[in-house]
Amino acid sequence: MRVTHLSLSEFRNYEVAEVPFKAGPNLIVGRNGQGKTNLVEAIAYFASLSSHRVTGDAAMMRAGSTTAVARMKVAVEDRDVLLEMQLNRDKANRAQINKNAVRPRELTRWFSCVVFAPEDLALVKGDPSTRRRFLDEAVAARNPVFAGVLSDYDRVVRQRTTLLKSARFNSGSGAVEATLAVWDDQLVELGVRIMDARRSLIRALGDPLAKGYASIVEHDHLPRLSLIESITHSIEKHGVSRETPQDPPIPATDVSRETLTVQFREALTAVRRQEIDRGVTLVGPHRDDVLFELNDLPVKGYASHGESWSFALALRLSVAKLLREESPSGDPVIILDDVFAELDARRRAALMAEVAGFEQVIVTAAVEGDVPEGQWHRVRIEAGAVLGVDVEEVNPHV
Ligand SMILES: Nc1ncnc2c1ncn2[C@@H]1O[C@H](COP(=O)(O)OP(=O)(O)OP(=O)(O)O)[C@@H](O)[C@H]1O
Ligand SMILES: [Mg+2]
Repeated sequence: MRVTHLSLSEFRNYEVAEVPFKAGPNLIVGRNGQGKTNLVEAIAYFASLSSHRVTGDAAMMRAGSTTAVARMKVAVEDRDVLLEMQLNRDKANRAQINKNAVRPRELTRWFSCVVFAPEDLALVKGDPSTRRRFLDEAVAARNPVFAGVLSDYDRVVRQRTTLLKSARFNSGSGAVEATLAVWDDQLVELGVRIMDARRSLIRALGDPLAKGYASIVEHDHLPRLSLIESITHSIEKHGVSRETPQDPPIPATDVSRETLTVQFREALTAVRRQEIDRGVTLVGPHRDDVLFELNDLPVKGYASHGESWSFALALRLSVAKLLREESPSGDPVIILDDVFAELDARRRAALMAEVAGFEQVIVTAAVEGDVPEGQWHRVRIEAGAVLGVDVEEVNPHV
């Protein structure tokens, strides 16, 4: 698939913007702070309904405005689809597909992209929550049904946690126990589906990760990823799951959902007392993590800056290749936000070669010389305005 046009109004530093894109490589170029990332943030929003750099929508509304609108035309094979999103500060967001009102989540079924950005270093170096978000976005991109499963699971965790907190003051109350049992059923049912989908994802990413890393780095450092699940991990030893477990993770082998269900229930029984004491839901996919390794050592804490960055890029690349292989609606759009500046010339060329075969690649750069040579469709940006498109033709004096 590809983006053919993006229209913005009151989005970030854009009062209005009209930006055409083409199939193949597109380059958004402009000095620092002019609005390049803002453009790709708007595009990527349609794939996940969230920004790749902030949580919450407020920062995307132009300063002083209570609303922001992004409209995007996407071509999927020979069909055009018009997606529209209105972000509102004081009321619910609104979405349209081909001018028909839909629930916002529907938009994500029509667009898929993979964003590579400097923030990706946090995948390797940051908190488990960053890695969980990575897993869940990929799971939902593979199978859109999971967007609903994930938000239902979050709701169940929140409500169950509220109940646990109240149970502290009503301990031993039969009513609390009975209600907790109902929440446990939902927690386990949804949680097992998520764990199962994450396991399948981890298995599918192994090979493309190894190949992508080897082509970017030109060495085989044995990149590996494995899940650390709170339902089986360190519970016996520590009674609770820890945010950064040190025990070796279990390989994501093909365990049946029935087995996961039994393990989840056992884990809940084991931590029941502590959950009530602490008022926290202690086990489940919301407490899991994924371990990244190079040469049998964790990337976090051991790998060099360059190795960590290459690992993060290879990880995104592996998701892109997986979606490409599996998606019935064609390639995901590849977005490289300010990525080339961080790479030497050889790695730039290697990364570009890896993504060049995708239907559309959108790159942002402050310095045009950082971008590998090629036939780029250029969009020049300055101070929240699109100066020219394919500048040579449109605006020869720029
Ligand atoms: N909600 C907002 N309203 C108005 N301006 C905003 C808003 N959010 C961000 N900006 C402005 O947008 C500009 C940053 O845009 P953006 O991050 O897209 O820059 P960039 O071109 O990607 O720069 P760099 O090359 O440094 O990455 C900043 O000047 C920032 O102040
Ligand atoms: Mg930027």
